[in-house]
Formats: sequence, structure tokens, C-alpha cells
Amino acid sequence: MSSDLAGRVALVTGAASGIGRASAAALARAGASVVVADADLDGARDAAAAITRAGHTAAAARCDVTHEADVEAVVAFAVERYGGLHLAHNNAGIGAPPALTVDVDEADFDRVLAVDLTGVFLCMKAEITWMLDHAGGAIVNTSSGAGLIGYPTAGPYVAAKHGVIGLTKTAALEYVRRNIRVNAVCPGTIETPFISDLVGDDDRARAALLRTQPGGAFGAPDDVANAVVWLCSDAASFVTGTALTVDGGAVEAQGILLD
Ligand code: NAI
Repeated sequence: MSSDLAGRVALVTGAASGIGRASAAALARAGASVVVADADLDGARDAAAAITRAGHTAAAARCDVTHEADVEAVVAFAVERYGGLHLAHNNAGIGAPPALTVDVDEADFDRVLAVDLTGVFLCMKAEITWMLDHAGGAIVNTSSGAGLIGYPTAGPYVAAKHGVIGLTKTAALEYVRRNIRVNAVCPGTIETPFISDLVGDDDRARAALLRTQPGGAFGAPDDVANAVVWLCSDAASFVTGTALTVDGGAVEAQGILLD
């Protein structure tokens, strides 16, 4: 990627694994100093170490996005460590056990909403508060294809990811005149531990998921990371409030692929 993020400071949540780990590395390769934040501190340390071994700048921080104090502390850490906060990828997310709506356990519903939706809200609140008092910035929230269409047996996740797009569009309009851009990425099926956890060793479940991919393959974390870097860059300076699918056409094709 040619985007030059030199001099910018980026915060990535859920950065110990999968998409967040790839976007933290990609933002660092583009020149940003990156705070690699995750509830899993060992994982965050491992991801930050890989970035610094490659010759770029990163520091790990523990942050559970469901706790406002953690989120405020990680923003303060970025400012203290690197002198500011210009870019954020609010990406931490979890799934729930598959269940039809009437079978969804309320505790599962609350847990998914707390991480996937409230977590994004708390991150945006702390990041925008800092950006408003300084020179602005760019924020990317991770939604999902499930933020755009329904998925049977994934009610809590679908509700949270639709909510992320609502928060994104609202904040984009609220702060467009304050030099803060807010966008979302909507990944399709990306090969990460999130997907391994979903299908496990079940080859039939994996094959069924593969059939929903128009191109016959899952995406890679870097496919999403590249979109995040672009949305954070000045090349996207007129882009705000968008929900960008990075899914190999899966959402577009859903109607024709259903058995
Ligand atoms: P992953 O499971 O590989 O990584 C998620 C990371 O989030 C982990 O490092 C985990 O420790 C961290 N995390 C979980 N709860 C947290 C919390 N409360 N506070 C801070 N960190 C927390 O998953 P993946 O696939 O990289 O997913 C990243 C995001 O992308 C999630 O929001 C997910 O919903 C979304 N997504 C993933 C897709 C996929 O196919 N992999 C498709 C569409 C969206």
C-alpha cells in the first residue's frame, strides 16, 4: 500500500488476532505508530512484537472494550506514548452460539451486544472526545456482512453489527465539519480464528460456508486491513459514513446462492 501514514498514531482494538492483528501491522507498515490493544494482553504483546521485529512502531496495551475505564486508559496511553491519536480501528468482536431467535439466551445476547456494539460506542466516544480537542482524525469500525443483511441463527450478532453501521453513519454526520471521518468495513467470511471457532473441524459446515462465497474462497485478514488503511488515509479524505463491504461479492450474491 502506498498510503503514507507517517507521523500518525493509530489505535486498533481486537488487535491480538485475525483482522485486527493484520490491520495493526498494515497501519504500521504505512508509517503509523500503533497501539495494539486487546483483552488478551499476551496476544497483544505478541502482535506488537511482530510489528517491531519488522522494523515498525507499536506498543501493546490491555483493553477490554466493554469497560469505559479501559477504553479511556488506552486512549490516554496512545497520547502519552506517541503524542496523540489520529486513527482508530474499533474492531474487537465476538460471536454467539448459533440459535433461532426464540432460543437465544439473554446472557448471550447481552454479551455480544456489550462487546460488538457497546464496545464500539465506548471506543468512539473516547477517541472522538480527544480528536475534537485536537486536529480531528479518522475512525474505522468493524461491522460485517451481517451488518447489512439478516443471518438466521445469528440474531444478537446481526443486531450488533447493524447497530455499528448506525453508530458509524450518525457520528460521521455529527463530526464531518470537525475534520473527523467515521466509516465502517463489512468483512465477508475471512479466514481467522473467529471462523475456525464457528465451524471447528466440521468439514461439511466449512464446505457449506464456502458455497456462500461467489469466488469460491474465503478472504484473508489483509484484504480487510488494506481497506482499513485506505479509509484511514488522506486518499479517502472525502469518504465518511460509508459501510464498505470487503467480501468478494458475498452480500451482493446472497439472493442467488441460497439453496
Ligand atoms: P478473532 O477472534 O481472530 O479476533 C478477535 C479479537 O478480539 C481477539 O484477539 C479477542 O481477544 C479480541 N476481543 C474479544 N473480546 C474483546 C473485548 N471485550 N475487548 C477487547 N478485545 C476483545 O476475530 P476476527 O475474525 O479477526 O474478527 C475481528 C472483527 O471482525 C470482529 O468484530 C468480527 O465480528 C468481525 N468480522 C469477522 C469476520 C470473519 O469472517 N472473520 C466477518 C465479519 C466481521
